[in-house]
Amino acid sequence: MPLQGKHILLIITGGIAAYKTNMLVRDFVKKGAQVRIVATPSSAQFVSFATLATLSGNEVLSEFWTNHQTWNNHVDLALWADLILIAPCTANTLGKLTHGLCDNLATTVYMSAKCPVFIAPAMDLDMYAHPTTKQNLEKAQAFGHTIIPAEFGALASGLEGQGRMAEPETIARMVSEHFQTTQVSHFWKNKKVLITAGPTYEAIDPVRFIGNHSSGKMGYAIAEEAAKRGAEVILISGPSSLSVRHSNITLRRVVSAKEMHDEVFQHYASAQIAIASAAVADYAPKTIAKEKIKKNENNLVIELVKNPDILKAMGDQKKDHFLVGFALETQNEEENAKDKLKRKNLDLIVLNSLKDPGAGFQNSTNKIKIISPDQTLDFPLKSKTDVAKDLLDTIEAKASK
Ligand code: PMT
Repeated sequence: MPLQGKHILLIITGGIAAYKTNMLVRDFVKKGAQVRIVATPSSAQFVSFATLATLSGNEVLSEFWTNHQTWNNHVDLALWADLILIAPCTANTLGKLTHGLCDNLATTVYMSAKCPVFIAPAMDLDMYAHPTTKQNLEKAQAFGHTIIPAEFGALASGLEGQGRMAEPETIARMVSEHFQTTQVSHFWKNKKVLITAGPTYEAIDPVRFIGNHSSGKMGYAIAEEAAKRGAEVILISGPSSLSVRHSNITLRRVVSAKEMHDEVFQHYASAQIAIASAAVADYAPKTIAKEKIKKNENNLVIELVKNPDILKAMGDQKKDHFLVGFALETQNEEENAKDKLKRKNLDLIVLNSLKDPGAGFQNSTNKIKIISPDQTLDFPLKSKTDVAKDLLDTIEAKASK
């Protein structure tokens, strides 16, 4: 029973689909979860708090103050939760969540949370199709939240289109699957896993830098998956707009390859597994101009010097580590990856090729081969979340041999 003993905090906002949350609460409780509910005042127009309190066995909280003396502590509520589900999530609340507005108990609880957040939006079709809503959903996704897309069908306005909250069965299934796939595993529990992610920026002057297109999505997905499996994760990230949600992840932000190198070696000795998914700049300007370089000449020559090869240094200093590198290639892919596997003293290398549509930088998907000295495993195009699962499964299988 994946929900047994889990703490689910349900946030209900003011949309007609709020009435469906009765079914959700009943389902979660039946499956053994403890459910607490924070509902915005306007949701009371659409669902009875008395019914929800009876189904959940807990008082429904709506305001900061229950009477003039008792304060509903938003931090305690947020930290209590193993998962926060916001259903239905109106356009208004979605806008607040993605822009840091905390004007009620629900949004304040959300901002204080460290656990995974699932959002089930519900609104009329034109509101759902509005660029603001699209941007806000993308932003919420970039925060690491899971969006349960609205479904097509009849809407309260009498119109038909996409905007209905997903059916309670769909929402319940996704929540259940989350806990199913995130069971703490014996292999990963308490292992220290060092992960590099994102690009590095090598400054030319105070304004410009040499960088690359890495978003960090691949490395952050690996970090989240390892954390869910119970590992203690140190994520060393170059500049990225992503953030981490899982409390098992310690995020260290760096800018340049040199900084990434120094941060990696603060943690490498005490790690058991290291995964280098960062796209590290191979070269950096020899000197960084103190002032912005003026465009006086037709040609500008910048002398570059080699950056430290962080992964190679990890390979050279390897003791009992299980060491995984990435190879981003555009030609002679397998040959180049195998060469890096050997030269950098790796246990595995993950090959992604820019020739494969949907693979590599920026996409939410990737297509990889995992190469070890004795085997090459070929995987189809998958979400980076699923790629992370394949990688961790392979590491576990190889390291347990
Ligand atoms: O961040 P995303 O947008 O999700 O994109 C993901 C990704 C494409 C960046 C990722 O999947 C990936 O391929 N990362 C490695 C990119 C890369 O730099 O590959 P490489 O073949 O140049 O480097 C080989 C390995 O050496 C990598 O593990 C790299 O982290 C490491 N390296 C490289 C140079 C250097 N100076 N130090 C290093 O540690």
